Amino acid sequence: MSPRLVRGADDAAGRGPDTPIEITVDGVPVAGVAGQTVGGVLLAAGRRAWREGPSGAPRGIFCGIGVCFDCLVTVNGDRDVRACRRRARDGDVVTTQSRAGDR
Ligand code: FES
Repeated sequence: MSPRLVRGADDAAGRGPDTPIEITVDGVPVAGVAGQTVGGVLLAAGRRAWREGPSGAPRGIFCGIGVCFDCLVTVNGDRDVRACRRRARDGDVVTTQSRAGDR
């Protein structure tokens, strides 16, 4: 588990024990806990960018509230899902997207 993740047992808000989940991102298993968004799982795993904009520049979480669309991924075949808004479920298959060269 990531050192960036505050464990449920250590959470001052008392959210209780964590329920582990696992998603795959571009075929690589990534561990998370139930309740995290896809973006949260990726950030906790140490990923800061997972998409490329039209210029090829890396993109990831920017606003974190579903406004900027910088965090888009494909989840279980559904394109353009905002990773910051989509709650991760055990077994989700996430693929990254790129718009490099689209301009
Ligand atoms: S980070 Fe802005 S929409 Fe997801």
